[in-house]
Amino acid sequence: MSGNIQSKIGNTPLVKLQKINPYPNIEIWVKLEFTNPSGSIKDRIVHHIINDAEKNGLLKPGGTIVENTSGNTGAAAAMIGAIRDYKVILTMPDKVSIEKQNALKAFGAEIVVCPTAALPEDPMHYVNVAKRMASEIPNSFRINQYDNPLNPEAHYLTTGPEIWEQTGGRVTHFVAAGSTGGTISGISKYLKEKNPNLFTFMADPFGSIFYKYFKTGEIDPNEIGSYNVEGVGEDHLTKAMDFSLVNDMIQFNDQNCFDTARLLAKEEGIFGGGTAGANVWAALQLASRLTEPAVIVTVCPDNGAKYLSKMYNDEWMKEKGFL
Ligand SMILES: Cc1ncc(COP(=O)(O)O)c(C=O)c1O
Repeated sequence: MSGNIQSKIGNTPLVKLQKINPYPNIEIWVKLEFTNPSGSIKDRIVHHIINDAEKNGLLKPGGTIVENTSGNTGAAAAMIGAIRDYKVILTMPDKVSIEKQNALKAFGAEIVVCPTAALPEDPMHYVNVAKRMASEIPNSFRINQYDNPLNPEAHYLTTGPEIWEQTGGRVTHFVAAGSTGGTISGISKYLKEKNPNLFTFMADPFGSIFYKYFKTGEIDPNEIGSYNVEGVGEDHLTKAMDFSLVNDMIQFNDQNCFDTARLLAKEEGIFGGGTAGANVWAALQLASRLTEPAVIVTVCPDNGAKYLSKMYNDEWMKEKGFL
């Protein structure tokens, strides 16, 4: 497969924050997942899941890949579908940026845009629409990123070992926000096997149910609220998310993550999406609490170019009251 773009998935760079980390005894490293071919961390899971589906006869030549996705998983599916000649149908909430929607179309995928306001039990919720389409379309395969154990497994097999290697086994803390939870669960599982003292710190946006569930065990629908950052937080629990691997959590708002993402670009030259801002903001919060030297690792899940019309657009930021 060398030479094929799919062979360029993973083995992403890990870079150390140089200017925006004020804590001299704490290293903060960011894994640049936007260097994956479709521009995000999701290439890893889709590649792993589609390979497995082909191997086990769940996806046959000429078949259709269906998935509910906030965009990045869709881009990965659309890219791999294009290469392997599968039809790809993707459902998503209407808050997904127009750049992300158009990127999927560029790879030849069909998109179905659903109302962001639809609650999980609503048939118009984008997850339910994908499930229905997958059950109706013959020879179709749903990636099922939220509940598929192969999602965290992809990170357990690739991202976790890469972080361990790249830090020379020095990593002490891992920080990430989650949506499916695949990233934080898979990476933490691997790193904790290597170092049982590894501390996992999860960031969660206000408006998501994860934080309260982690703290109290309660799934509280009153916690569900709207927020602008795309791709993290959830209104339902997922099987890809293993809370037993998380040591503590912190909540953030749109302002925290957008300000930090813009600072990352301006000061560190790291042009990531809003969730890179959330992850680095949380890493800095964690660093401010630590008294011993530490090596914190987090991820920059996707490319800032996907958000040029939103958080990298001053007019949009002003309209939303963020600037
Ligand atoms: C931009 C972005 N950041 C972070 C995440 C969270 O990753 P995970 O689903 O592995 O928890 C996603 C997932 O959709 C994403 O699209």
